[in-house]
Amino acid sequence: MYNDNPTLEGVKLDLDTGRHNTPLGEERQGEILEMVNSDAQKKFYIESYGCAMNFSDSEIVASILSSEGYSSTKVMEESDLILVNTCSIREKAEYNVRQRLRIFEKNKKKGALVGVLGCMAERLKKKFLEEERLVDMVVGPDAYRDLPNLISGAEEGEKGVNVFLSKEETYADIAPMRLDTNGISGFISIMRGCDNMCSFCVVPFTRGRERSRNAFTVVAEARDMVDQGYKEVTLLGQNVDSYKWENPENGEKVSFAQLLVMVAEVSPLLRVRFSTSHPKDITDDVLYAIRDHHNICNYIHLPVQSGNSRILDLMNRTYDREWYMGKVDRIYEVIPDCAISTDIITGFCTETEEEHKDTLSIVEYSNYSMIYSFFYSERPGTLAAKKYEDDILLEIKKKRLSEVIEVYSKVAFEVNQKDIGQTFEVLVEGISKKSDQELKGRNSQNKMIIFPKKGGVAAGDYVNVKVTEASRATLRGICL
Ligand code: SAH
Ligand code: SF4
Ligand code: F3S
Repeated sequence: MYNDNPTLEGVKLDLDTGRHNTPLGEERQGEILEMVNSDAQKKFYIESYGCAMNFSDSEIVASILSSEGYSSTKVMEESDLILVNTCSIREKAEYNVRQRLRIFEKNKKKGALVGVLGCMAERLKKKFLEEERLVDMVVGPDAYRDLPNLISGAEEGEKGVNVFLSKEETYADIAPMRLDTNGISGFISIMRGCDNMCSFCVVPFTRGRERSRNAFTVVAEARDMVDQGYKEVTLLGQNVDSYKWENPENGEKVSFAQLLVMVAEVSPLLRVRFSTSHPKDITDDVLYAIRDHHNICNYIHLPVQSGNSRILDLMNRTYDREWYMGKVDRIYEVIPDCAISTDIITGFCTETEEEHKDTLSIVEYSNYSMIYSFFYSERPGTLAAKKYEDDILLEIKKKRLSEVIEVYSKVAFEVNQKDIGQTFEVLVEGISKKSDQELKGRNSQNKMIIFPKKGGVAAGDYVNVKVTEASRATLRGICL
């Protein structure tokens, strides 16, 4: 499988342990999700790409299909319906999906239907059917309720497209069918869409206008997860800090900080995480909610994109270098032991070597615990594609990317050294990948900690672990 994300080494730890640690920036590669419904006749197979929102959406789709009598399978060759939930964020992500469609065509059961869901469906719309004759259905992220109709149509030989983008749809009433879960961590989508229009980004076009989900349904879903034994929930949205919901019954407004607290109060044993925060929207109230609630994790994914003010302006990020640095200072001031991670794009249009150096220095300044970095990939239809020339050579974009990773590696190593000797509460996720004599889990700061097995300690338990060793990506310790 391709990998255009050289930071994947650090990411692998996340993939290994479940999807809750995946910021929206990370493109995940075709993971197959399965749930079981033995009474069902027809089988569907779903492969998901892209960000956590897409994986969360696949659970909504599974729920809709399950009520139609479908059960899921991990074996594409035996399924009656093959779905691929796609991502458009970078060119490579789309290329990968097209390759998969060829493989489906070759190996699928005779008569099996193929549907393309998600962001690529939304971006290409009807054109997808012309470009990819192998596809029977093209369904955008707000049109999943229409899947049963589209499937019936396709069964009659009528290819279907529904890419209607809604201003209201949040799937609030659909209980997601938890797919391929570790039973410990799960997602709750709290909003959909994005109104920000960063100039490089395709998401506002593929996901439509921002809308927030009914706060009470979010809390009810969290409560349901606790009842099922879940210990960690990640509240998802492209820009969670601009969550706002008004109760139609009494006009009361719920902000993101208030929602965080409402979810945290469901159970002290439920850890609450969230992704992603646009730096312009994260408020002191959110920081105070984190500081004042033990179970709201001390971890913020705060994508900077670039450390240079001119480039940030071209990107339409609405903050400059100094403003972002001030935000980082404020986070460490209110929550001294907070971990901050980020997303970075290298080689954006017209970026000079000097401007790139500003990105390197902001990585040093911010003491990131993790970065997800990408080289710029022009997306058709975006503001940047229309207004600016994609004029940085690929090799320069890649060179800058490796420099970002180099600086980050040094920073993360140093940041992690400070954890040696400290004791953290760790939520155990299971056996470590490298040794069955070791367990792994994360602390509140979202850092992976490996430690020798201890009698009676199992996945889903909270334990205290004293850190004894630290590398760039992993901490090691002993369970107290
Ligand atoms: N809503 C989130 C980001 C979602 S997209 C936020 O604003 O933080 C995830 C990440 O992909 C972005 O943060 C950005 O770093 C990267 N990205 C988006 N468009 C890109 C492009 N055209 N080329 C390269 N990377 C891109
Ligand atoms: Fe894209 Fe910007 Fe919206 Fe994030 S905030 S999804 S980068 S437009
Ligand atoms: Fe997510 Fe990719 Fe769409 S990052 S919102 S699946 S373009």
